[in-house]
Amino acid sequence: MSIYRNAVWFLKGRQEYTKNGYEAAAKHFAQADLEVDLSGRSYMITGANSGIGKSTAKEIAQRGGTVHMICRNKDRAEAAKGEIVEQTKNDNVHIHIVDLSSARQVWEFAQNFSKHNTLHVLINNACIMTSPRELTEEGLEKNFATNVLGTYILTTALIPALEQVESPRVVTVSSGGMLTQKLNAEDIQFEKGTFDSLMAYSQNKRQQVILSERWAAQYKKIHFSSMHPGWVDTPGSRTSVPSFHAKMLSNMRTAAMGADTVVWLAVSAAAAKQPSGLFFQDRKAVGTHLPLASTRSTPQEEEKLLAAVEELALKFKPNKEQQYRH
Ligand SMILES: NC(=O)c1ccc[n+]([C@@H]2O[C@H](COP(=O)([O-])OP(=O)(O)OC[C@H]3O[C@@H](n4cnc5c(N)ncnc54)[C@H](OP(=O)(O)O)[C@@H]3O)[C@@H](O)[C@H]2O)c1
Repeated sequence: MSIYRNAVWFLKGRQEYTKNGYEAAAKHFAQADLEVDLSGRSYMITGANSGIGKSTAKEIAQRGGTVHMICRNKDRAEAAKGEIVEQTKNDNVHIHIVDLSSARQVWEFAQNFSKHNTLHVLINNACIMTSPRELTEEGLEKNFATNVLGTYILTTALIPALEQVESPRVVTVSSGGMLTQKLNAEDIQFEKGTFDSLMAYSQNKRQQVILSERWAAQYKKIHFSSMHPGWVDTPGSRTSVPSFHAKMLSNMRTAAMGADTVVWLAVSAAAAKQPSGLFFQDRKAVGTHLPLASTRSTPQEEEKLLAAVEELALKFKPNKEQQYRH
């Protein structure tokens, strides 16, 4: 089955996820959708110092939005901020150093932020694909800790900041790679069998899409979406999938092309009119399963994922005394 899924996915990708695929889709984009003034609105972007995240931050700063860059490395964050401010002449760009693989750090940052600020849009973009299997200081598998648990804690802890504003949104940058995976709620930290980083990444991306659907059902005031940016030439794709990157490079998207739908979902009036919780590609809601791929999970499996993620999140939540340190 996975050979079938991978083959169908790759053929689909060659048609749709490439630069040619973007250019074909972009013929139907309404340019006016992105002609918006974002002054007075705030946008938090994880992994905003590189690739799709940096390109998204630039587009938002260009339109006058306040940008909160969530990055783990101060030097890389400052270099990217300098570039964004210089190119957009927008000084409302702020760096927050947070390692998303640390559940405690994410809780502390997000709770503190929520206490003192409101937020219009959260863009969950940061991601890793690391191998061999590695544990964080908190004893969590590192891909899961960064891509799923960090995203979950950040999003849920920022709900109070989002719910206070007009038209709040959460955009989660997933991947078309999730189409090759059925949720495996039995082993979310890849403890069984041989560890495969591409499988772990694709499971994480499937989990992100399911979380986004669940949040949409739970938090009605907020517009949630997840999306696939296409195959994009970024530092991440260069290092995580080097042979795929080398093979596809001549037809890979630029970071700006990859960011287009992220920006559209974050800022356009047209995106806000779409139902909450959908998965997008090139400004269109698309299916989350390939035909005949048997990747649909049951509500029970999804509940199991949610319960496990929530339990882990609560395990690392600072107690009241620690929260008042800020
Ligand atoms: N490129 C593609 O072809 C492609 C395809 C499908 C989906 N995507 C998705 O697009 C998103 C962006 O990827 P990209 O290609 O732009 O990759 P990228 O250039 O590697 O950017 C990833 C960003 O995430 C940050 N990050 C990683 N771990 C972090 C942590 N623990 N705490 C805080 N920040 C962390 C990185 O920071 P550092 O600079 O410090 O490492 C970097 O800023 C990801 O969600 C990815 O899954 C990309």
